[in-house]
This record gives sequence, structure tokens and C-alpha cells, in this order.
Amino acid sequence: MSGQKTVWVTGASSGLGLHTAAALKEDGWRVIAGARSFEDGEQDGIHRLKLDVTDEESVRRFREKAAEIAPPDALVQCAGMLVLGSCEETRTEEFRRVMDTNYLGMVRVNRAVLPLMRERGGGKIVLFSSINGLMGIPFQSAYTASKHAIEGYAECLALEAKPFGIQVMLVEPGDHRSGSDKYRPHAAAMTRESPYADAYESATARIRHDETNGSDPDVLGRKIARILDRKRIPFRKRIAAMEQHAAVYIHRFLPAKLNAAVLRKYYIR
Ligand SMILES: NC(=O)c1ccc[n+]([C@@H]2O[C@H](COP(=O)([O-])OP(=O)(O)OC[C@H]3O[C@@H](n4cnc5c(N)ncnc54)[C@H](OP(=O)(O)O)[C@@H]3O)[C@@H](O)[C@H]2O)c1
Repeated sequence: MSGQKTVWVTGASSGLGLHTAAALKEDGWRVIAGARSFEDGEQDGIHRLKLDVTDEESVRRFREKAAEIAPPDALVQCAGMLVLGSCEETRTEEFRRVMDTNYLGMVRVNRAVLPLMRERGGGKIVLFSSINGLMGIPFQSAYTASKHAIEGYAECLALEAKPFGIQVMLVEPGDHRSGSDKYRPHAAAMTRESPYADAYESATARIRHDETNGSDPDVLGRKIARILDRKRIPFRKRIAAMEQHAAVYIHRFLPAKLNAAVLRKYYIR
């Protein structure tokens, strides 16, 4: 198809990245998808390339190979993971792994793609944050910190990139029934011996329940595809169930102590 637009998608082997890549392909985009588990090649009409966002050399190779196929009109960054654990017991190495994937991984790919978009006179960059980018949830501190970092970083990027015709959008999904447990390991210290064991068990059961019963990932994929079709994209797009929109408002407007009481009651019975 001539005039076909190209989107590069990271973290496209599972979950919301997979669904978003499929929706974009359905909408007529040429999709170049990256993930560690991919072998280079084409499948279901999507160009797959191996990509580890924590590895500079892998990002460089991904950029080179993807640009040979087609330079990006848009970039969608979904690669992510979390480690569940208490603030006290989650090891520095476990925090580092989450930050390196979610935040620095995003930074690496943006640094690789921004020059290409500048040279082409513009582009659209979609960064996956989360409701956790807006509020803290117990036993998800590494993930929450990484998503808060993305929120701040995206504000800076949007300001800097605008003169080059580059638009930035943060996607803030609520719980979606798409994520794989593979990307949600427990911190090594979270055993029955942990002083947080009971609270941890209650909170992780709630987290798992909310994700299993979460929103439809296909709907999110289609929403992003529709937005990317527009000339102008919003800076923030929260895609969540009503009660999770409500939780964000409560967090914003309730006094901190009252908000903490609500969250504790919800997560830690
Ligand atoms: N699901 C939800 O409810 C939800 C809610 C809010 C936000 N989000 C955000 O949405 C995004 C997708 O999450 P998900 O839960 O839907 O999917 P997921 O099933 O957790 O999949 C994670 C994806 O990230 C990729 N990935 C992980 N580490 C990577 C690395 N080092 N390099 C490249 N790719 C890597 C994985 O592919 P490989 O293992 O093949 O590399 C996989 O495709 C994440 O940013 C997440 O924070 C999800």
C-alpha cells in the first residue's frame, strides 16, 4: 500500500503491546514490533525484530534493522515489567531491573528514534505509563516509581520535541486482563517469614483479582489506533474502568491521610 504509515512498537509479544500492534495493523499501519522473545522475520503481517530495551546494542540493532524496513511515523513503547514486594525488602537489584526496563528502556528507544523523527520533520511518540504513574499502590513501589519517572520525563520530552513536529502521548491504562504473570515476579524476600506477609498476601490477591477482571485489551488497542490516526494527539490518555478513573480523582482531591486510609482498606484487609 503506497503512503502506508509505519509504527514501531516495543514490548509487542504479549499483553497491551501485542493487542495495540494488532489493532494498528488492522488499521492499515505497517507495524515493526520488537521484543526479546522475537526472532527476526514476518508473522501475521507484522515485522518482528528481536529487541531488549535494557541493552544499548540491542536497541541500536533494532533501530538499524527497523529503519531498513521503514522509518517510523509513530513509536509506541509498551515494554514493561514489575516486581512485587515491600519497599523494605525489595532488593536494589530488583528495583534496578524494573527501572532499567520500564524507564531507562523507554529512554534508550526514544534516544534512538528521536533523530529519525527530527530528520523526517515529525512523528508521534506514545509512552505507556499506568494509573500507577499517578498514584502509589502498596507492594508495587518499583513499578510505581518507574511509571512516575515516565510521567515526569514525558512532560520534558513533549516540551523539547514540539518544535520538531514531534508529539508525545502518555497512555495511562487501568487494569487490563492481558498481562502475563511472567512479567510480575515476586521479590525474593517475599516469603511467609516476611513481616509484611499477611498484608502482602492480601494486596497481591487484590492486584491479581483486579487485573484478571480488568478491561478488554482489544478495546485499548483500538482506541490507540484511532487516536494515532488523528493529526493532533492528546498529551494524556487514561484508558480505565470508571472506578479506576474515580480512584485517580479521589487521590487527587482527598487529603493524603484520608486517601491512604481508603487505599489501605482496599488493598490490605
Ligand atoms: N496489563 C495491565 O493491566 C496494565 C496496566 C497499566 C499499564 N500497563 C503497561 O502496559 C505495558 C504492557 O503491559 P502488559 O501487562 O499488558 O504486558 P505483559 O504481558 O506484561 O508484557 C510485557 C511486554 O514487555 C516486553 N518486555 C519486557 N522486558 C523487555 C525488555 N527488556 N526488552 C523488550 N521487551 C521487553 C515483553 O516481551 P519479551 O519478554 O518477549 O521481551 C512483553 O511483550 C507495560 O508498560 C505496562 O506497565 C499494563
